[in-house]
Amino acid sequence: MKFKLFESKAKAKEVLANNQPRLVRAGSKEICIVLSSETIFAFQNECAHMGERLHGGKINYLNEIVCPLHTYRFNIKTGEEAQGRCNSLKTYLVIESDEGIFIDC
Ligand code: FES
Repeated sequence: MKFKLFESKAKAKEVLANNQPRLVRAGSKEICIVLSSETIFAFQNECAHMGERLHGGKINYLNEIVCPLHTYRFNIKTGEEAQGRCNSLKTYLVIESDEGIFIDC
């Protein structure tokens, strides 16, 4: 199912600060989105370790989101945990088109 995030890339860049995780809701799902170097990444907001909400985490210099609870690190593109200590995060496709920016979830 596709959910519209923004009317345009320009609007997204107005709203999203670079490398600042943000929570969005798509139906009953909580999804964390991050604008990083002109690209929007989307992944499950629930940490795959013990369920902390990741939008409160930070993005490090390796483009990983660092969970605020136990500092596990997940690649924002692939969802993989840096040291394989738990399952990967589910990632979502972000689609840019003339009609806007959508998330496929
Ligand atoms: S809950 Fe995220 S690292 Fe433990």
